[in-house]
Amino acid sequence: MKFLLPTNGLLLQKCSDIMAEISVDIERAAQLLLAGQVVAIPTETVYGLAANALDPEAVRKIFEVKDRPIHNPLIIHISRREDLHKYVTQVPPLLEPLLSAFWPGPLTVLLDKNNVIGDEVNASLKQIAVRIPNHPLLLQLLDTVGKPLAAPSANPFGYLSPTRASHVEQQLGHKIPYILDGGPCSLGLESTIVGLSDNRLIVYRLGAITVEELAATYDGIVEIRNKDAHQPNAPGMLPYHYAPRTQLVLSTNVSADIDTHKDINMAVIHYTALHDRHLTHPQSKQLKMKGGYKKIAQSIYEILHELDQQGLDLIIVERFPDENLGRTLNDRLSRGAERRFHM
Ligand code: TXA
Ligand code: MG
Repeated sequence: MKFLLPTNGLLLQKCSDIMAEISVDIERAAQLLLAGQVVAIPTETVYGLAANALDPEAVRKIFEVKDRPIHNPLIIHISRREDLHKYVTQVPPLLEPLLSAFWPGPLTVLLDKNNVIGDEVNASLKQIAVRIPNHPLLLQLLDTVGKPLAAPSANPFGYLSPTRASHVEQQLGHKIPYILDGGPCSLGLESTIVGLSDNRLIVYRLGAITVEELAATYDGIVEIRNKDAHQPNAPGMLPYHYAPRTQLVLSTNVSADIDTHKDINMAVIHYTALHDRHLTHPQSKQLKMKGGYKKIAQSIYEILHELDQQGLDLIIVERFPDENLGRTLNDRLSRGAERRFHM
C-alpha cells in the first residue's frame, strides 16, 4: 500500500503490491477511517470493508476496492441505539421489539433515511439499512471513530464472504491499508435484512437470525421476499452471488451427483452418510459436517474458501432442510451455485 500526500493534506489510497497491515490496533484503524481510508473490520457475521459513512469520497472507495456496482446500497453500522434517530426519520413502534431482542446482533433493518447520510451510501433509495453489530472490537472502534461506518462484506463483488482476517488479506489485501483482526467470525453468515410493508415484516435477505426467531418476536405476519425480481437495487438478492470460483452444486441427491461427475476432482460436503462406494471414490474428498446448524454456518464459508484454493473441478454440497439456519445456508449456497456449468 502506498500513500500519496496531496496538497489538501488528505491521504489517498493506491493499489500496490504492498499488503495491508493486520493487527488489533483500534486507534490506528480509527485514524485511517477518519482520514478517509477504507479499513477491513471484524463483525460477528462476516468481515466488512468499512468507511466513514459521512465521508462521500471514502464511501466511493469501498465500491472501487470491491469492484461493486454503485447502485448496490450499503449497510451502516452504529454502536448505540440512541444514535439511530440521527440518521433516520422514525423507527416504527412495530420494529421496537426486534431491535430490543436482536441488537447488538445480526439484524439489519431498513428505515426511512433523513439527509445526514449521503445518497452514495444507499444508492439514492428512500431507505437506509442499519445495524448494531455484536463484536467487541468493532463496537470499540465505532465509539472511537464517533461516526457511522458503511460496510459491505469484505470480498470482491460476487465472491464468497470472508470470515477470517486472512480471507480478506488474500482477496483484498493489496488494495487496503489495514485489516482489524477480530479473529474468526462467531456466526459466519451475513445479517438478516428486514423491513416493514403494510405492517408485515418483510425478510429481504435470509441471514444469521432465522425466520423462526423473527416470527417468535414480531407481533404480526412475517413474509420472506428474498427472490423479488422488483429489487434490482439489492444484488445480494441476485441469483449469482456468494460464490466460490470453483463450480458449486447444491445437491438434493448427493449419490446421484457423485455418480454423474465421477471422473473429475471434487469435494463433497455432506451431513448424511454416504454410500460405501463413494467413500472410496479416488477423485473425491469427503467432508462430513458435524454439529448443528450453528456450527455448520460458522464454518461453511471457511471450508469453501479452503476448497477454492485446491484447484478442484467441482464442490458438491448437500442441501439442508429448509428450516432455521438451514434455510439461510440453502439460500447462500444456491446463489453460489448459480453460475453456468462449464466442464
Ligand atoms: O452481516 C452483514 O450484513 C455484513 C457485515 C459486514 O455487516 N454486511 C453485508 O453487506 O453483508 P453487503 O453489502 O455485502 O450486503 C448487504 C445487502 C446487499 O444485498 C444490499 O443490496 C442490501 O443489503 N441493502 C443494503 N441497503 C439496502 C437498502 N436500502 N434497500 C434494500 N437493500 C439494501
Ligand atoms: Mg456481500
